[in-house]
Amino acid sequence: MSDSDRDTGTRWTAEERRQQAVRRLPRERRASSDGEAQEPQGSPERRVGHRRTRGERRDESAWLTLTFDLVPPEEPAPAADLLTAATAAREFAQAHYSRFKVGAALETADGRISTGCNIENATYGLTLCAERVALFKALSEGLVVFTRIAVVADTADPTPPCGACRQLLWEYCGDIEVILGNTQRVTGRHRLAALLPLPFDRRLLE
Ligand code: THU
Repeated sequence: MSDSDRDTGTRWTAEERRQQAVRRLPRERRASSDGEAQEPQGSPERRVGHRRTRGERRDESAWLTLTFDLVPPEEPAPAADLLTAATAAREFAQAHYSRFKVGAALETADGRISTGCNIENATYGLTLCAERVALFKALSEGLVVFTRIAVVADTADPTPPCGACRQLLWEYCGDIEVILGNTQRVTGRHRLAALLPLPFDRRLLE
C-alpha cells in the first residue's frame, strides 16, 4: 500500500467503473458487454466490402469518444480494499509443496470482489494459481466485466501473474489493471496489455 494510494480519497461510482471496464475491453467484448452502447448485429465494419455512410461513421466515432472520455486514464484508483482482500485470501493458500502462498482479488465493474488463493496438488502440474481461482470463481457466478486484479505474495520483489494466468486474464478481463503487492506495500501497478504484448486471442480465430 503506497502513500499515494492511501492519500487518493477518490471513490469511483459503479457507473464510472463500468465505463472504465468497457474502455479497456477488446473491441468485440466492449460491444457485447455494454447494454446501452451495443453495436448493432452485423455492424458495418464487419461486413466485408461495405462502405460505411457518413452517418454510420459519425455514429460510431461518437460512441467511441463517449466511452473514452468518461474516466481519465491517469487517475489511479485507491487499491486498499483489493489488496486487503487478496491478503486475506492468501491465508487460505494450499501451498504444501512450494510453501509459496499467493492471494488474488479480482474486482468487477460494479465493485464486487472475487478472491482466490493458489491450490497445489501432489502431481504439481494440476496446481492452480490464485489469479485463476479468483477468475474462475467470478465467471462461475456470472461476473463477466472486470476492472482490476490485486496479487499478493510475501516477496520484496513483485510477484507478477504467470504466463498462463496472463493469457486467461486477457481472454476474460481484457486490459485490466494488475496491482502487485506484498503484505506491507504495493510493489507494482501494470496494465495487463503491457504484461502480455502481442497476445494470441480469439480475434485471430474469427
Ligand atoms: N503462483 C500463484 O498463485 N500466482 C502467481 O502469480 C505466481 C505463482 C503460485 C503457483 C504455485 O502454487 C506457487 O505459486 C509457486 O509457483
